[in-house]
Parts: sequence; C-alpha cells; structure tokens
Amino acid sequence: MIKIGIINQKGGVGKTTIAFHLAYLFSRANKKILLIDVDPQGNLTSCFKEALPKENHIKLIYEGQIPRPLEVDKNIFLIGADITLSKYEADAKLANFFKMKNLLDNLSGDIAIIDGPPSLGLFTSNILLASEYVIIPTDMSKFALLGLRDLLDSIENVKTNTNKDLNVLGIILSSVQERLNYHKEIINDVVREYKELMFKTILPESVKVKESISKGRPVFDIYPDAKISKAYLELFEEIEVRLNGKR
Ligand SMILES: Nc1ncnc2c1ncn2[C@@H]1O[C@H](COP(=O)(O)OP(=O)(O)O)[C@@H](O)[C@H]1O
Ligand SMILES: [Mg+2]
Repeated sequence: MIKIGIINQKGGVGKTTIAFHLAYLFSRANKKILLIDVDPQGNLTSCFKEALPKENHIKLIYEGQIPRPLEVDKNIFLIGADITLSKYEADAKLANFFKMKNLLDNLSGDIAIIDGPPSLGLFTSNILLASEYVIIPTDMSKFALLGLRDLLDSIENVKTNTNKDLNVLGIILSSVQERLNYHKEIINDVVREYKELMFKTILPESVKVKESISKGRPVFDIYPDAKISKAYLELFEEIEVRLNGKR
C-alpha cells in the first residue's frame, strides 16, 4: 500500500479538500483507497457521513483497538474522526507515536490517504512515521509560507531519525487568484525557494469547490469544465508521474 499523508500545521490551507478529491481521482483509476481522517474537526468524515459509527473511528488506535474501514463510495474506505479524538492529542507517550504505522501495516488497499490536523503534535507525528510520501498544501498567506520551513525541517528530522522512507511528494499552492499581483509575487517567491518540491499545477480559488463538497461530490463531477476541475486532473497526473518516478 502506498501511504500518502496530507499535512500542514496551518488550518484552512486545503488539506481536507485535496484528500477528498485525490480519493476520487485514485478510485477512478481503479485503486482501492483507504482514507483516514486524523483531524478532531472531522471535516473529511463530514464529507461522507453525518455520524460516524464507533467501530470506524481512528481514536480506537489509541484505545488498543483496530478501527474498521467503512465503505463510503466505490473503492473508497474511510476511517473517520470527530471531536472525541481531540483528547488523545495530549497523550504523547512514546507508544502512541507508531499507532498509525501499526494500523496501516495491518490494513489492505492500494493507496492510503491520511488527512492531517492543523498542528504539529502527536497526530501529525503519527502521519510522518506512517507515510512514505507527504503532500503539503499551502494557501497564499504569508503565515502559511513562513510555516513551510518549520514543517520541512520536522519532516527532515523524522526522515533522518525514524522514517527513512519518508519523502515530500510535493508542495501545492491552493486557493490561488492568479490575477492578483500579490499572489503572483508569492508564486514567484515559493517557486524560487522550493523549486523541485513544488507541483507545477496550482489550484485556483473557486467557490465551486465549497459548493460541490457541500453536496458530497468532487468538483470535477459537478463542473467538469471548470478551471479548478482541470487543475485537479493535472495535479493527479503530476502525482502519478512522481509516484512512478520514485518507485
Ligand atoms: N480551490 C479552492 N477554492 C476555494 N475554496 C477552497 C478551495 N479549496 C478549499 N477551499 C475551501 O477552503 C476551506 C479550507 O479548506 P480545507 O480543505 O478544509 O483546509 P484544511 O483541511 O487545511 O483546514 C474550506 O472551506 C474549503 O471548502
Ligand atoms: Mg482539514
């Protein structure tokens, strides 16, 4: 199973939206997807379920049990979260850091996509220890970009000390308004600084994303001709090329 974490310690940068859309893109390429929500806000889970059955909850890994993936769409299996996950974030004893890795070693599927929380605590550490690849979405704010360096340092640290299989698959700019001069400057700056780590695709800002997600559908199903939908397909192609190149 290929394990891909979607992480950024800042909230609202597009992690959940990207996890949701990648699940559909991979599933339509005939892959069996395991989607894991590790954010106590449970946004990814809410895209599929209003209430999550107890046996499908990721918090079970911290209770010594194994959560069961719930089939939420064709080829897409979810292990979800809700606010009751939050109390475990503070339980940062050593044994808890490898819970996600142990879980994934015991589950089957082609691709695991793990949606991270807006923090660099226990849950994100679990993702870094369990993943082979991370995708880092960032929005166009100065704070998000300042946080990138810290995040890349943490990843490097994990790679050197604990999980040598970890790789940054790419950084993706999300909710971009390409006509704004301010955004053009940011694009130039990050591309200069992070070069080959950047995906060439940029996800434009579009209200169609929110609208589609509120209907529980990926944007390319509802608006196949929209710029954002084409961007998602291009991003997916880039991801496949990078995955193939690294294997
Ligand atoms: N390309 C986009 N254009 C406009 N809004 C977007 C886009 N991608 C995501 N959003 C919206 O931005 C908000 C934050 O996205 P989300 O994926 O929840 O971020 P995170 O998981 O990092 O907190 C959500 O309301 C989402 O619908
Ligand atoms: Mg999220």
